[in-house]
Amino acid sequence: MSVLLTGGAGYIGSHTCIEILNAGMDVVVVDNYANSSPIAMKRVEEIVGHEVKHYAVDCCDEAALRKVFEENKIDSVVHFAGYKAVGESVRKPLMYYKNNLDSTFTLLSLMKEFGVTDFIFSSSATVYGLSEAVPYKEDLPTGCINPYGWTKFMNEQILRDYAFANPEMSVVLLRYFNPIGAHESGLIGDDPEGIPNNLMPYVCQVASGKLEKLHVFGNDYPTPDGTGVRDYLHVVDLAQGHVAAIKYAKDHKGTEAINLGTGIGYSVLDLVHAFEEANDLTLPYVIDPRRPGDGATSYADSTKAKELLGWTAKKTLVDMCRDAWNWQKKNPRGYEE
Ligand code: UFG
Repeated sequence: MSVLLTGGAGYIGSHTCIEILNAGMDVVVVDNYANSSPIAMKRVEEIVGHEVKHYAVDCCDEAALRKVFEENKIDSVVHFAGYKAVGESVRKPLMYYKNNLDSTFTLLSLMKEFGVTDFIFSSSATVYGLSEAVPYKEDLPTGCINPYGWTKFMNEQILRDYAFANPEMSVVLLRYFNPIGAHESGLIGDDPEGIPNNLMPYVCQVASGKLEKLHVFGNDYPTPDGTGVRDYLHVVDLAQGHVAAIKYAKDHKGTEAINLGTGIGYSVLDLVHAFEEANDLTLPYVIDPRRPGDGATSYADSTKAKELLGWTAKKTLVDMCRDAWNWQKKNPRGYEE
């Protein structure tokens, strides 16, 4: 069993690569390194103790990607590759629509050519928009509030339509909540470019002294302490969810959207305090106004993942905080050498 991972050198891709290999399957990685580092692949190889086949290929480059299909017998595709910065997507919508949709078209056409039927898509809880109907269940009406989110939404629809027209297809749309943390070795982790947008990498850079203090975006939300509530899950748990989805797709046809979250919501201040406790340090923070586009509360109904995939998240918020800090401490400049 061999799995093609597009964007396999990225944050979620690299962790998933390890878990798939741990599960006894083979992996072929393609990544154009637009938002990732070849060093991540070296670290993955260090962790698993052997070479991992990888190609510096852009998923929109059909000729280059065809070569990958020609050279490897692929059984299943996990499609992580894509642009993912919400703010940038608002400024450069066409770049997002072009890249994030084209890669899916290219993959589907090559999968057809080579008789590959299993497609696991890296979707996001962002498809629930700002719905207040928490916990989010998969059958909730969906809608988005920025171009990045719409690319996830549109990809889901394209894949559904395609699987309907091609009944041999098996499509699993994995809707991630808020992945944080890192592999326990501290060799791979989240390495955002520039000043981080997401909470955990920002927290880590405050803890390391690289940034002065955390800006908490709003404390007037209708939540227990007024700060935004999210469903944070450990990236290794998330990676294992992909292994379960690959196995599921092997035995099922059609399309399923499945949430990957813990089902528990923590506030920004819960996370700050857990980080302080887990790592025995103090995090300076100030309260700032709300960030435009943020909702109050988002967490998963994770029943479907348990029923269909037999998957539940196992790691705690403390595990997430400890592992994120371990990665940050060991790699203060990320993958930069
Ligand atoms: N936050 C701060 N300060 C920061 C950064 C974030 O207070 O410096 C707060 C946010 O307001 C929010 C929470 O921390 O309440 C989490 O924010 P993140 O940016 O880490 O995550 P989001 O929930 O905003 O976004 C994530 C992914 C998106 C995805 C979205 C919905 O980053 O890609 O979940 O699934 F679209």
